[in-house]
Amino acid sequence: MTISKLTSDKVKERADIVEVVGDYVPLKKKGQNMWACCPFHGEKTPSFSISPAKQIYKCFGCGKAGDPIQFVMDIEGIGFQEAIRHLAGKYGIEVEEDEARTPEQNLEQNERESLFIALNFAKDFFVKNLQTDEGRSIGLSYFKERGFSPQIIDKFDLGYALDGWDNLLKSAKAAGFEEDILLKAGLILQKEGDPSRLYDRFRGRVTFAIHNISGKPIGFGARILTKDKNQPKYINSPETPIYHKSDVLYGMFQAKKAIRDLDNCFLVEGYTDVISMHLSGIENVVSSSGTSLTEGQIKLIKRFTNQVTVLYDGDAAGIKASIRGIDLLLEGGLNVKAVVFPDGDDPDSYSRKVGTQAFQDYLKNHSRDFIGFKIGLYQEEFERDPIRKAEVIREIVQSIGKIPDPIIRSVYAKEASGLLQIEEEIIHAELNKSLIKSQKDHFQKAKDEVEAEEKLEELISTSAQVSFIEKLSIHEREILRLMSLYSAESLDEEGKTVLEYLLSETLETKFQTANYERIYNLFRGLISTDKKLDLKGLLNTFPGESKNEIIDLVQQRWEVSAHWTGRHGILVPTEKDDLAISSYRALLWYKKRYVEKLMAEASMNIKSSEGSNEDFEKILVLQSIYLEVKKIQVLLSKELGIVIG
Ligand code: UTP
Ligand code: MN
Repeated sequence: MTISKLTSDKVKERADIVEVVGDYVPLKKKGQNMWACCPFHGEKTPSFSISPAKQIYKCFGCGKAGDPIQFVMDIEGIGFQEAIRHLAGKYGIEVEEDEARTPEQNLEQNERESLFIALNFAKDFFVKNLQTDEGRSIGLSYFKERGFSPQIIDKFDLGYALDGWDNLLKSAKAAGFEEDILLKAGLILQKEGDPSRLYDRFRGRVTFAIHNISGKPIGFGARILTKDKNQPKYINSPETPIYHKSDVLYGMFQAKKAIRDLDNCFLVEGYTDVISMHLSGIENVVSSSGTSLTEGQIKLIKRFTNQVTVLYDGDAAGIKASIRGIDLLLEGGLNVKAVVFPDGDDPDSYSRKVGTQAFQDYLKNHSRDFIGFKIGLYQEEFERDPIRKAEVIREIVQSIGKIPDPIIRSVYAKEASGLLQIEEEIIHAELNKSLIKSQKDHFQKAKDEVEAEEKLEELISTSAQVSFIEKLSIHEREILRLMSLYSAESLDEEGKTVLEYLLSETLETKFQTANYERIYNLFRGLISTDKKLDLKGLLNTFPGESKNEIIDLVQQRWEVSAHWTGRHGILVPTEKDDLAISSYRALLWYKKRYVEKLMAEASMNIKSSEGSNEDFEKILVLQSIYLEVKKIQVLLSKELGIVIG
């Protein structure tokens, strides 16, 4: 079943890069392009760019790039045909097949595509089963009893697995599916001790199709309907090449738009809670289906929002057992709120009990941030027991410590201090301890990123190139001054001179100030003569007109230093004591300013290219040059921070 050329052409024509990428990540406009945090690799600052004009995307972090179809292939992990199909669905374009599918062609599909097709077949099969006599009397009546409407059954692809050993197996084989694929899809099982005997995994249960983010079935949960205590309540699909449980949240496909629109994601325990919330008119809800939350799932949520509200059953012991999940959410940089239901109720039972309006009101009125929630949870305990209180404080502080953003962290520290009635200082002291202990690297990284970001902002706002040349000139002069004063002094045991060192470190750069460049070249000329000259020697050797300039250089320093000391790293009293450090520092400053000038040039080039009709490829090259230089600049700044101390 190949899609006709006409169909794929229509899709290519219609698919818009902004709309397609926008289905997965929030976009921000900056200049002519849109930017986002890359959905292909974890990051906090956006380096994923989309050009509406060229209809392409490119990530400067991980290098992924392409057109709308490539994007869908990459993000869904599917082939070209499937991507076309997906986009045709999105844009309501009718798909023309070149010819109908035969069993042989089924075999030709690559494995992943086959698995998707098999899962979709099973979904259709289970859905149709609901209309059989058995399905109606057992499956459908169960859903009705739970208050599930026909619309919701359709929306969630709910179904029924007939009570028999091989109903699915038989009809799937008749449709041309290989046993091997059905096994890999997790739909059938091999009999223990006799692997040639195959049987259906899901039997006599209602089925909940689990969808990937673009709505394709990738697995099932299946709930028992009898009271048989020897059987598990739910049977779930195993891990397969298309179902990585730790990266999937139940209901995300149906919820993603509402999550983005409302900028909040409700997190509940299971399938039925998700569906009940939809019935109550709340669509921004997902579930990790009975397992504890993973990092992959948190990343998934963060594609759509930074705000999570966790819904807890009203059972304190159960809450305390599952509260670890909150720390994981905090660590992921999410804002966390919580709602606790009255004792004995979960979202599903409570919404049915009180009705839609009261349920929505309850969520609104009982949502608390995680600090208030955690403290409330332990309030009774620590009011009775002061030692317990100390433990609770420590625990809460630990949670606060997980938050990557220092500003949000301090907001919560303040709140905790109010609620726990202890001084903020104590919270901060505890916080520091726990931060130092568990988050040293993490914290450092976050800080570096903020600093780099600030430097960049500063740079962009003053991107007039002239000012960079002016700044650079100060450091060119400083290098020449050190060369003039200490030319022949040795820096280390090996006898390397200040002149040799400074020259060797600057050979690949070019001095921007014409006068200074001339003097620099005079110094460079000295190296080949191998003469070691002090200031007096230099003044005798260099041509007449440069003498005055050198004297100027050497004297100017003393006037300037009074103002520039410290800020520009020129520390007068120690200079001669440690020439190695002084030279090193001067070089760092010079290189930093030099690199900043390169950055300003690159950024101006980018700007002028964007304004004109330049090739997008060229802009990409310029942008990557810019980012490369920026990296060096950050390194230099960091190193300078250390040297200046
Ligand atoms: P529940 O026991 O609440 O399931 O488990 P339920 O279908 O809502 O049952 P009732 O009607 O309230 O008694 C909550 C979630 O935990 C997961 C499922 O995702 C379920 O929706 N679960 C539970 C499993 O995966 N396996 C199990 O055996 C039990
Ligand atoms: Mn339940």
